[in-house]
Amino acid sequence: MRRRLVVGNWKMHGSRASATALAAEVAAGTKGCTGVDVGVCPPAILIPPVVAALAGGHVACGGQDVSEHESGAYTGETAAGMLVDAGCTLAIVGHSERRQFFGDTNDRVAAKLVRAAAAGLTPILCVGETLAERRKDETSQVIAAQLAPVLALPNIGDLLARMVIAYEPVWAIGTGETATPEQAQEVHAFIRGAIAARDATAAGALRILYGGSVKPDNAAALFAKPDVDGGLVGGAALKAADFTQICAAAAR
Ligand code: 13P
Repeated sequence: MRRRLVVGNWKMHGSRASATALAAEVAAGTKGCTGVDVGVCPPAILIPPVVAALAGGHVACGGQDVSEHESGAYTGETAAGMLVDAGCTLAIVGHSERRQFFGDTNDRVAAKLVRAAAAGLTPILCVGETLAERRKDETSQVIAAQLAPVLALPNIGDLLARMVIAYEPVWAIGTGETATPEQAQEVHAFIRGAIAARDATAAGALRILYGGSVKPDNAAALFAKPDVDGGLVGGAALKAADFTQICAAAAR
């Protein structure tokens, strides 16, 4: 039985004051959600106050991205070791906004995943197709290509035991248009099958989250699908009440 996981991706929103308040509200609101793991990923600069607000509680903190380099002259980057040092246990890699606006390739995302895992973080690998790709019926090809450099890694067995995958169809992110539970299930099953071809045991234990306009009113139906093990939540994660309801739906 896979334990569900719900992670809020706060993207580039918030201030010290609002992030600290939101973290405290999420911690208080999800206290009773014992059947689910909960995490939040604030902007890098807000990680320290959020970690302080979450201290000693059940809510994990994570980075929204991580450098593929261990350290060095890489202006503007955040190293995985720095996230760990700041108190993070999670790191999103390969979010479609990083791929779309910052040139993250499938190979670079795999390198980031390796760094995150080596530092002791749980990497959340995001995959997903654009609307144009879905219309051309290329969803599985695109996702297979996104997974390929990860599945080719020499220590893939260890990585699979540690990582999480998030299926985020690009057309559903921030648009209010959610994949139907059936559409999500179809792709999640495809992803699990692709992993199983490499390591069947790891595939059975791997958590695959859905992301893309997850809201309190659609979360339960998505999480009811057998291969949907939780959510990666954007907009609704900025409202403590909405995020708490989504976590409660996952805990049921
Ligand atoms: P929304 O929930 O705002 O669609 O964002 C999803 C997402 O990108 C989470 O990483």
